[in-house]
Amino acid sequence: ETKPRIPVIWMHGLECTCCSESFIRSAHPLVKDAVLSMISLDYDDTIMAAAGHQAEAILEETRAKYKGQYILAVEGNPPLNEDGMYCIDGGRPFVEKLKEMADDSMAVIAWGACASWGCVQAAKPNPTQAVPIDKVIKNKPIIKVPGCPPIAEVMTGVVTYVTTFGKLPELDRQGRPKMFYSQRIHDKCYRRSHFDAGQFVEEWDDDAARKGYCLYKMGCKGPTTYNACSTVRWNGGVSFPIQSGHGCIGCSEDGFWDQGPFYER
Ligand code: SF4
Ligand code: SF4
Ligand code: F3S
Repeated sequence: ETKPRIPVIWMHGLECTCCSESFIRSAHPLVKDAVLSMISLDYDDTIMAAAGHQAEAILEETRAKYKGQYILAVEGNPPLNEDGMYCIDGGRPFVEKLKEMADDSMAVIAWGACASWGCVQAAKPNPTQAVPIDKVIKNKPIIKVPGCPPIAEVMTGVVTYVTTFGKLPELDRQGRPKMFYSQRIHDKCYRRSHFDAGQFVEEWDDDAARKGYCLYKMGCKGPTTYNACSTVRWNGGVSFPIQSGHGCIGCSEDGFWDQGPFYER
């Protein structure tokens, strides 16, 4: 209880803000406990009360006061075309601020598919040249927490691990925490027995769909997608896309946005 809370700077590049939307719905731990008791969320331009110069001043203050001690959490990514002009933040290219804040951080968290892989704004032909953050941050460890968005409890789980143990969780070769991304959706899917038995949905409203058969023939990407949806699930463990009757579109995998169309068989 006497341990100082780790300062966190949460920056937003090109993104849709649904990673934040997911995060604020964490049930285990409750996001209020994560934000008010576990970390010191010193800057988040989406939810903080301060704005403009007042907000910018906090970035400088944190860099000076907590050099090498704060975590930089990044939602979204930097576009590199036209010297970064497609994402201006505080009057200058986001990519500049991102590099600056990363330089003095302890470690970086890449929230979601945008920061981890590029996501829809990097879809072909990628006119803004949006890139994942590891293309511009080369000097710090990066924890990639992919998903579009990531599961709320996976996000707060990563934060809990870092604040509890004071170190980064074990990562796989792609930089994802093994504790949440070492299994495919297919490995723990509750429809797996239907897959094994060769029982497949062939049309969205057929009898097999009503019986909850496997969605593989409807394009489910569960067999090639590493994420915790079939175990942790969403909305506090209530459900996940496949449980709602829709196949997985592989939203935590690199390049998923260019793998469509999602509804063609
Ligand atoms: Fe939005 Fe997906 Fe990017 Fe998160 S990863 S900010 S949910 S587009
Ligand atoms: Fe695998 Fe998808 Fe079928 Fe589940 S619905 S068993 S993840 S193919
Ligand atoms: Fe995304 Fe597939 Fe989970 S679409 S939310 S990884 S079930």
